[in-house]
Amino acid sequence: MHQDIDKILFSQEEIEAKTAELAVQLKTEYADKKPILLGLLKGSMMFMAELMKKLDIDLQVDFLDVSSYEGTVSTGDVRIVKDLGMSVRDRHVLIAEDIVDTGRTLEKVIELLRNRGAKTVEMVTLLDKPETRKAPIAAKYVGFMIPKLFVVGYGLDYNEKYRNLPYIGILKVSVYT
Ligand code: IMP
Repeated sequence: MHQDIDKILFSQEEIEAKTAELAVQLKTEYADKKPILLGLLKGSMMFMAELMKKLDIDLQVDFLDVSSYEGTVSTGDVRIVKDLGMSVRDRHVLIAEDIVDTGRTLEKVIELLRNRGAKTVEMVTLLDKPETRKAPIAAKYVGFMIPKLFVVGYGLDYNEKYRNLPYIGILKVSVYT
């Protein structure tokens, strides 16, 4: 285990098993919809890669990079860093997220996709922190619910570190105080 990690919350095996469960649900829903699987960079990349491998249906993949975070507290300020490369008009869009915290990022992204004419917009997230929600956002497909903790690994960072950890862990408080 990395020296800055207090505790492992979910191992790679647990994450992969949960992702497989989510893929089963998504396959039923999206088999005939040719969805756009939209990963929000950079946090969703590991989850997205794992999900794609298990989601053996006709789909397209794109990425959107929006930014709202500095450190461990949401600023509520969301800006587009990298836009999609394809049109979402009349398409079923499935947003893949690493974690839903305040929900502000997703709120803005959903608004953007609807304004651009997406037929449906749903969300699949590996982690959900419902206690810290500020915007009325509910992901339809959720891997794990977690309490109000700051977690890193499996794509999630703290100041751009720890994204490459193959598990999700709780960062030692001493690292960010
Ligand atoms: P929201 O807009 O507050 O829901 O924030 C969503 C984004 O904040 C996620 O995609 C993450 O990049 C980041 N985030 C929220 N909570 C955590 C955490 O516990 N660890 C690392 N990043 C987080």
